[in-house]
Amino acid sequence: MAHLNILKNSALLMLSLSLLTGCKNESDKKEQTAVTAEEQQEKGLKDYYSDYFPIGVAVGPGTVQGESAELLKKEFNSITPENVMKMGPIHPEQDRFNWEQADAIANFARENDLMMRGHALVWHQQTGDWIFEAEDGGKVSKEELLSRMKTHIDSVVSRYKGTIYAWDVVNEAIADDSTQFLRKSEWYDIAGEDFIIKAFEYARAADPDAKLYYNDYNAIIPEKRDRIYKLLKMLVDRDVPIDGVGIQGHWSIYGPSEEELRKALDMYSSLGLEVQITELDVSIYPWEKEQRDRRPDESDEFTPELEQKQLEAYDMFFRVFRDYKDVLSSVTFWNLSDQYSWLDYYPVEGRKNYPLLFDEDMQRKKAYFKVVDFQEEKE
Ligand code: GLA
Repeated sequence: MAHLNILKNSALLMLSLSLLTGCKNESDKKEQTAVTAEEQQEKGLKDYYSDYFPIGVAVGPGTVQGESAELLKKEFNSITPENVMKMGPIHPEQDRFNWEQADAIANFARENDLMMRGHALVWHQQTGDWIFEAEDGGKVSKEELLSRMKTHIDSVVSRYKGTIYAWDVVNEAIADDSTQFLRKSEWYDIAGEDFIIKAFEYARAADPDAKLYYNDYNAIIPEKRDRIYKLLKMLVDRDVPIDGVGIQGHWSIYGPSEEELRKALDMYSSLGLEVQITELDVSIYPWEKEQRDRRPDESDEFTPELEQKQLEAYDMFFRVFRDYKDVLSSVTFWNLSDQYSWLDYYPVEGRKNYPLLFDEDMQRKKAYFKVVDFQEEKE
């Protein structure tokens, strides 16, 4: 009987223990859920992607202030100046540099412990005419152009040494016309392909620790991809100091396809180069190159259908990016929210676009939640 009692008591004890444990687990669970919900409030893109790659955003002087700055700090851990470090704005005359706005952005990066990409040392646009003009009004010699380019690169790269970890050294040197190889720019007309090679050499000399990138658009489209690849291979074969290729990523809901994207990432990385997505946005319109007027019947409404297509495009792009995390060393968006995008002005001025993950009120869009919804893959 006593024996039975002991059994009965221990059974009761077990039962109450398991009930207690059950309760404890429940309360743990509740606590956990609460923490998770809280964490999700606090978590930004950069946190969801912390095991993958840094997530950056292009900024102007206004982005690093007020409400934009708060959103930026919560969601991103890398920045690229959209315009202020381009040659035209930062070096408007031979003997004059405009450091103020560039310094403000670099200070913001330092104060907030953000990574920073530099953009862009040598480009055919947003470049003052002075660099190509001789004193007699004609064109400068190749030697003079390279010497001016060296002064430019030395001055800008040295100033931000230790803050900027990667530079777009040469931007968009490949021609759009598929029958051509290098773009017929003033750089090319005066210095031939040497302007590219020398730009990388000067940048390496100015900051041996900075990662040096070649950056271009339409880099996924096969006919341009192949010519970019050819240029990169030539640079690598000649031991030009290049570390990576920047795929700008001005894409749309109409492309590129998953297959094209994977193929391009495979090709570029096969050269032993790092790859970054440097200027990501997903336009709701098909790609167009030439500037034109808005057609009278042209709507710029962000319909639920377009929203859905954009969500699917973003979902696919980030799925591929995650698959290539060993190849991709950063993904940067070109602007912060749909409140402002360069695509509101290009290629059709005054036609609103909605290419980013935050809406016009700087709130997360449906596409945002899709992009961060990949827990299963992580587990
Ligand atoms: C190119 C340049 C960028 C920027 C965009 C448009 O992609 O690399 O600096 O000018 O065009 O904003």
